[in-house]
Amino acid sequence: ALERTFSMIKPDATRRNLTGAITKALEEAGLRVVASRRVWMSRREAEGFYAVHKERPFFGELVDSMTAGPTIVQVLEGENAIARNREVMGATNPADAAEGTIRKTFALSIGENSVHGSDAPETAAQEIKYWFSDTEIVG
Ligand code: CMP
Repeated sequence: ALERTFSMIKPDATRRNLTGAITKALEEAGLRVVASRRVWMSRREAEGFYAVHKERPFFGELVDSMTAGPTIVQVLEGENAIARNREVMGATNPADAAEGTIRKTFALSIGENSVHGSDAPETAAQEIKYWFSDTEIVG
């Protein structure tokens, strides 16, 4: 089915000027960028976005890394976009990511893993809504 998912190019990647390279990899995987914005997250925004992880030991580090520089927030559209995006991203920890995936190619560590993608339809809908209004998404 044609789906939408939420994707981020994280500060570790924008800092290294990888916005184009990562977007190209997403497009080559059959995903279309139907919304995109560059944001420097506040702590409040990062904490709200990642609220599901707030009890985790790495939460502080996660918020630090997401507020360290600009992030590209995007909505991606395509056939099975959620699974397709997760495939092209690779495993959360770049040490476990398959050859040719974005995280294997570009990520520095589990904390600085260059990209985020929604893990399920419900989270995709929530995450898209957190950053975009309907009129900003142009399919
Ligand atoms: P992401 O897909 O954005 O979802 C939550 C993020 O937390 C994850 O990618 C990682 O960047 C980060 N994360 C997960 N586990 C750890 C960990 N053990 N140490 C630091 N950061 C982590």
